Formats: sequence, C-alpha cells, structure tokens
Amino acid sequence: MQPINAPFPATRLRRTRQNAGIRGLVRENALSAGDFIWPVFVRAGEDIVEEIPSMPGVYRRSVDRIVEAAQEAWDLGLGALCLFPYTGLEERTEECAGAWDPDNHVNRAIRAIKAVLPDLVVMTDVALDTYNINGHDGFVVDGEIVNDRTVEALVKMAVEQARAGADIIGPSDMMDGRVGAIRKGLEEAGFDKVMILSYAAKYASAFYGPFRDAVGASGALTGDKKTYQMDYANSDEALRLVARDLAEGADMVMVKPGMPYLDICRRVKDAFGAPTFAYQVSGEYSMLKAAAAAGMLDEERVMMESLMAFKRAGCDGILTYFAPAAARVLAGD
Ligand code: PBG
Repeated sequence: MQPINAPFPATRLRRTRQNAGIRGLVRENALSAGDFIWPVFVRAGEDIVEEIPSMPGVYRRSVDRIVEAAQEAWDLGLGALCLFPYTGLEERTEECAGAWDPDNHVNRAIRAIKAVLPDLVVMTDVALDTYNINGHDGFVVDGEIVNDRTVEALVKMAVEQARAGADIIGPSDMMDGRVGAIRKGLEEAGFDKVMILSYAAKYASAFYGPFRDAVGASGALTGDKKTYQMDYANSDEALRLVARDLAEGADMVMVKPGMPYLDICRRVKDAFGAPTFAYQVSGEYSMLKAAAAAGMLDEERVMMESLMAFKRAGCDGILTYFAPAAARVLAGD
C-alpha cells in the first residue's frame, strides 16, 4: 500500500468522483453475469413451476420445465446453474437411498439440460438433507450425526451426479474427510475432470430458513446442525477448513452465508488465493426482497450493491438467487 498522498488541498479525493466517466475509470471491481451461479430447485411431477412462498421470484420446477431455466441461464451468460432437489416428506427415508439414485430429480434434470445445452456449467449439491427423513446432512444414529458412514454415501451420490453429467460437485454437508473421499471416488470412476467446489466454511446459520422451505426440509429437521456446521463466532477455524479441503482436492472453495461473512471471504482469498465463492443464501435474498416489497429499499440498487460487495471482499463468484435479475441489469435491460 502506498503512503497516503499529500495533504489537502494538494490531494482532493473528490476529484476522482466528479462524474460517471471518471468514477468508471478508477473503479476497482466489476461484476459480470459469468460471476453468478444460479441455484435452481427441481421437483417431481410434470409441467410444474411453483413459486416458493418464502422466496418471492424463486420457483420449484419439474424436470420437464427445468430446461427453460437452463436456457435462460445460457442466454444471460450466467457462470453456472446449481441444482437442488425438492423432496416431499413421502420421498424421504432414514437410508436416504434417493440421494444416489441415478434417476433422482437432480440427475434426470442434469441429463435433460446437457442434452440441449452441453456447454452450460452445471453444479450439484452433495448432502443428505434433501433425502433424509430427519432433515440432517448426514445419517442419524441414536440422535447423532455419524461421519464416516455418511461420507461413503456422499461419494456414491457425487459419482452418480458426475455420471449424469455434472461439471462441479458441491459438497455442502460439512462432514470431515468428504472432499478427499469424493475426489478419490471420482478419479476411480473415471471422472478426473469433474471439479469440486467445497462448502468449506459453512456456518450453522438462521439465514438458511427459507431454503429449508424450498427443499421441503423445514418439517423434517430435528434439532440443529451445530455439531457439523461452524459456530458463527469463529474465523480462524474457517482458514483451517479451507486449507484442509484444498489439500484433499477441492478446486474451489465457498464461504456461506455471504453478506454477514465478508470478513471470512477476504481472509480466505488473502490466505490461499484459490478460486473463492460466497453463497448469498436464501435468508439474505428474502430479507432484501421483503424490504423492497414493503417499499423500504430500492430492490435493484441493493441487489447490485450487495453483489459488488462480494467482489470487493475477494470473491471470484457468487451463488445468488438474484443471478438472472442481476445479469439482466448488467445487460442493460
Ligand atoms: C444443505 C444446504 C443448505 C443450503 C444449501 N445446501 C441448508 C442447510 O445447510 O441447512 C442453504 C442455502 C440457502 O439458504 O440458500 N446441504
């Protein structure tokens, strides 16, 4: 960092803010559609596009209506699409076998998308919560979330997603050792080009509330996720998790939630220089939407400001439900 320039009046820092052209010239960060990963929800049934009540403007789509969303992502130049399944209570079990079913909603959706848009980058979520009758990201045995047996299941789940055509595997479960095990599983199954974007620093957060409605987990979840997701009082621990996941074979890492954790994004980027992502999660989206709907905030402006904040904090990309709306703003329509 340069020492500060000469004192006033030789230095007038307002000079470089005087008009839009000059501000553009000295602007340090930029957003583009390719920075955004758009989370999209896929469900059973046919010809369904239903709005999620706690997430206005976000929809669950049946597999036959998912390609429209993929086409929209492609036309807007989004960086990637990330698929999450919605599973009703009747589709959930203790064994979570749906998670590695080659014909589950997500795997069918990947194949449908890749048949039409082979070059659209498709990411998946790896965790058991969307298939588990308990709503937890791992198997529950005697009230405990067991680690190693869960990791074996996550490997099977990830390999089936890769087989269906996923480009990026996103383990969001926070079990220990899963990145290394998934990397090994992918290599052995011949998917050496499939990438892992690990949810490395994922906090136990109340900001996930609307998402759990979106995937049908709200009614299912027993207790909380504090024995595997991080304590929001911690910061050094995030660096240990990122170091661990990179060493185990993660290609990219994520901090989650986003806006309240920009300090973590900056530390991670500075410490490792690895491709770093943040997830602007459901609660962050819904609170901005709610404030805008109530006339308290200007939706478009807070959306763009919140997304730029991630770039300023060192993120290379952002998972955000605003992805298509923000891409439209950037495209000028
Ligand atoms: C679960 C998962 C969660 C989210 C993404 N993957 C919820 C959780 O950990 O309980 C949250 C995303 C959001 O809130 O937008 N594996």
